[in-house]
This record gives sequence, structure tokens and C-alpha cells, in this order.
Amino acid sequence: MCGIVAYIGPKDASPILLEGLQRLEYRGYDSAGVAVVAPATKSAPARLRVCKTKGRVADLAAALPARFKGSVGIGHTRWATHGVPSDANAHPHTDNEGRIAVVHNGIIENADELRAKLAADGALFRSETDTEVLAHLVAAHRAEGGELEDAVRAALKLVVGTYGIAVLDAEQPDRIVVARNGSPIVLGIGEKEMFAASDVSALVRYTRQVVHLEDGELATVRADGFRTFTEDARTVTRQPSTVDWEVGSYDTGGYAHYLLKEIHEQPGAVERTLSGRLDERFATAHLGGLNLDARELREIRRVKILGCGSAYYAGEMGAQLIEELARIPAHSEPASEFRYRNPVIEADTLYVAVSQSGETYDTLAAVQEVKRKGGRVLGVVNTVGSAIARECDGGIYLHAGPEISVASTKAFTSTVVAFALLALHFGRIHDLSPADGRRIVAGLKALPDQIREVLGQQAEIEKLAAAYADSQGMMFIGRVRGYPVAREGAQKLKEISYVHAEAYPASELKHGPLALISPELPTVALVPNDELLDKNLTALGEIKAREGRVLAVAHRQVEAKLADHCLVVPKSEPELDPLLLNIPLQLLAYHAAVALGRDVDKPRNLAKSVTVE
Ligand code: F6R
Repeated sequence: MCGIVAYIGPKDASPILLEGLQRLEYRGYDSAGVAVVAPATKSAPARLRVCKTKGRVADLAAALPARFKGSVGIGHTRWATHGVPSDANAHPHTDNEGRIAVVHNGIIENADELRAKLAADGALFRSETDTEVLAHLVAAHRAEGGELEDAVRAALKLVVGTYGIAVLDAEQPDRIVVARNGSPIVLGIGEKEMFAASDVSALVRYTRQVVHLEDGELATVRADGFRTFTEDARTVTRQPSTVDWEVGSYDTGGYAHYLLKEIHEQPGAVERTLSGRLDERFATAHLGGLNLDARELREIRRVKILGCGSAYYAGEMGAQLIEELARIPAHSEPASEFRYRNPVIEADTLYVAVSQSGETYDTLAAVQEVKRKGGRVLGVVNTVGSAIARECDGGIYLHAGPEISVASTKAFTSTVVAFALLALHFGRIHDLSPADGRRIVAGLKALPDQIREVLGQQAEIEKLAAAYADSQGMMFIGRVRGYPVAREGAQKLKEISYVHAEAYPASELKHGPLALISPELPTVALVPNDELLDKNLTALGEIKAREGRVLAVAHRQVEAKLADHCLVVPKSEPELDPLLLNIPLQLLAYHAAVALGRDVDKPRNLAKSVTVE
């Protein structure tokens, strides 16, 4: 949600900033802007130049004056929180004199109060954003003398809220000051040049050597190095680490969209999630990062899973896996609800936070609530070293690779695989038999090839998507293991194609939603070949009797009188079936969105990483 990039070095900054912003655009795409310090000339001192516009980074590139030169600069791509998307509300924001420029991710909670005080002292506000307050605050402290970093520290002491910021000062063009509190900032170390960004994806083209700032830390970044320090000016030493994801992970790699690429990356993502974690000898899973031994795990009486959106639905699949394999009561709840309902935290409950980005604010706040009350939290997280990962007591990294498209696909699948490993591990500590353990191990090992098999049906799914895309809405139904699949399928469709979609347990149809069924509202039905097959087929009969169209996703061909179309997916172990049943629904949503001409990777009103409430 919003992206920051900064550069200082010998090169012209704006092409580097624009390139970085393009890579960050998945995090916010309603407006974008850059600021550079134009060097002093014989007749004029160094001065700040700002260009910003409503719209995409491509619009910013088009709006950039030809001679927008400077070798130090900051840039931002925005997802609006305070104020509508507009040129004025786009970052960077500046002070009255246009000497200080600030880009900011996060929310300043006491912005109204600060704004009133600053305005009374003569600050001229030109936007509705909370960020502009920071520019005026820093300028006010710079007016008192001292260095830019002192002014930024003093300003941040007055601020309540979350931020990742980069600050530029036309009078000190030898540096950029960045700071982090709740919103990531990473420094990139180059050869006599330095970068900073909110996300490594903006840096990997230039450097693999990075330094992650901690909350409450600032850094002065100069072309020849950096210095990190705390809000109290205490110097802290940070060692660089090496980014291990390939530069290619951040490109579309020849696919039409990141989403399609990420759907196709799932076999590899699952292999990486499983890598080194299956123990054939004891028919169990090894999860080194849990930080809980077998005795501690045996004391757990309940599992509560917390996540938002698709992470919450992945948690629902996870809860079923844990209940089925370990026979421990498990439940998934939206983290966004949990954190506000004064939840009862039990000592013998294991809390599990799920997040691809590791930054989702609601999930982070839920983790903090559990920990504040003395609970124990594990994280199932994709982004190594992210805020949620750091806040948890232990956990499982997905290693799914970077997910750029706003809609989650490969991280979703890898999350469910991680839960299958956790459930297997739990189960084998409890009463899951070695034979059942072996069955699950074999099932997990077979998944990557089975996913490839489903992906091989893309052409057929594309045709079906085109046939169903113009419906006024779609119903998704599944029973027990199939219900979270239906929920995730409906989520994916509405999110990227904007076709209204509802998910219901098939068992609930006749208690209300059957009234919606008509030729205009087709149903996607999950029909696994399990103990509930006959019940699912009965539901299809009820829909067909009301002239509803049915697309079945099943393990074997459903007869034509019960389904208009049928996609047959490979059978796994019953507990793992949801993973494979979900894959065609991703492709269905993707191709429906393409057929409808949607902006697949950047759906309207959404952004990757929801770092605000
Ligand atoms: C759906 C989607 C969102 C995210 C949710 C949580 O495709 O992408 O619903 O799943 O915002 O995000 P993370 O997993 O980053 O916490």
C-alpha cells in the first residue's frame, strides 16, 4: 500500500526513480510523483523540483519535463487514504518555500491536530493529506538550524502513527533522510551510490545488498554510505544482507500478466514450501522455525488462525487440515474483526497469523493483541523479516517467491501447503497413524505435478471463462472441505473481474440462496469424490431443476443432466483435495477478468499489502 523509492549518487535520479516506482506500482496506483534537487547554477542555488500527477507511473513519466535533472531524488506511488486521488494529494509534499520534500507510507493519526497548529504558525496547506504535515514540521525544525536528520527526528517525536518516510532538503542535497515506524524502509547499497525503498523489488535491478531498518530507526543516506540511528540520536549498527530472490521474479517473464505468471509458478512455489520439510522415515514434517517442542505442542488444546481476505480463507482450509489430521479444534477468523472484539486469549490455544506480505496492518494488530495478553503466536508468512514475521514467536516461511499481482494465488496455495505440514506435524505428535502420515506425505509430494496437470487445462478454462464472464453474478458452492474453496473462488472472481460472486455451503442452498438461482446466475460447484459426493450431486439436481447453469469442478465427469460443464481435476488425498480444486478457479477468475477487459494485476480500489486500518 503505497511505495517509496529514493536515489543518491552520480547518475540522473529520475529514470531510476521512475523504474523503481513502476516496480512498486502493485502497492498503490492512484497517483505518483517524484522530487529531485536540481543542482546549483552560476545564477541560482540548488532547488527542489517536484512533478506529481493523479494516475499511473506511466502518466507521471509522460508528465515529467524533459530537463528534470538531479542526482538525488525521492519518489512515491500512492493508494489514497487521506484525500481523493488528485495531483495535489499525490506525494511528494513540500513546505511553504518548496525546500523540503517528503514521501510517506502509513498514517499520521494526530495529523488534524498538528495541521491546526502549523497553519496557525503560517504553514500553507495545499493538499488534504496527513503527509503534508510532515513536510511543514520538518521545515519548522530546520528553520531552527542544525542538520536535516535532527529536524526529521524532532518532527517525528511529535507524530503519532505509522510511517515509512524519505525526506529531501534542497539546502542539504548531499543526503536523504529516511525513517521507519510500522511501514518498511530498506536501504540498497551500490557502488558510490545508495538507494532506499519501501520494498526490495524497487532495488533488485541495482543492488542485492540491502539493510532493513527496524521500527523507530532513521538513516542518513549519502552517495558513499549510510548511518543508522534511533529517534534519540543513538547510532545503531546494521549489517547488510543479500536479497536471494532473482531479479526475474519481479518481471512478468513473458506472461501477459503477473497474475498468470504467479498461477503458473505454483508447482515451483509448492516445491519450495515443502523443501526439506518432509520426513518419510517418521511420516511427519520438520518445521524448524516453530520454536515449540513436541511436549509444548501436546499441551495445545485449540488453534486459532488469524488473517485477512484470502489469507483468512487459506486459514479456513488450514483449520480443517488441523482438525482432520490432528483432531485439535481449530478455527480461522478475520484478523480485522478479532482485534476489535476484546478476544479471550487462552494459554493452551496456539494462535497462527497468516500473511503473504507480512505487513497487513489488521493482522499485525491482531498479533500484537494476542501477545499483549500473553498468548503465543506463530506466523505463516511469505516475506522474510517482515513486520508480522518479526512480531511472532516462531512460524513457517512459505518461500513462495515474491507475489506482485494484487490477487493472491501462489501465496494462497503455499499457505495451505504450510498448514498441511503443520497439521501433519501436529497429527503425528497426537494420534495420526504412521500409515495416514505416509499417505499425507505422498499426497504432498505429488501436488506439484498434479498442479501442472490442472494448469494444462488452461485453454479449456479460458473458453469456459469467456462463456460465463458476462453473467450478472455467480454462485460458488462447496460442502465442508469444499466450502473454503468456494469462498476463495468467489473472492478471486469478484476481486479481479468485478463480477458479483457469492459463496455458500452447498448444504445451505435451500435455506435461502436457492431463491437467486436462475439462468442468469450460474453456479460453480465443487464436487470432490469424497464421502459427501451424493449430497453434492443432490444440490446440483436442485439447481438444475430451477434452470440454473452449473459449472462443476470435480474428480470425475458429472453427468450432463446435473452440470452444463465439468472440469475434472486430479484426485489427491481427501484432506488435500481443496488445494487442487482451487487451481481452476484461479484460472477461471483470471480469464473472466481478461475477457471483460479488466486491469488484472491492479484491480480498481485495491492494492497489495494493506498497511492501513
Ligand atoms: C486476495 C488478496 C487479499 C489478501 C489480504 C491479506 O486475493 O490478495 O485478500 O489476501 O489483503 O494480505 P496478506 O496475505 O498480505 O496479509
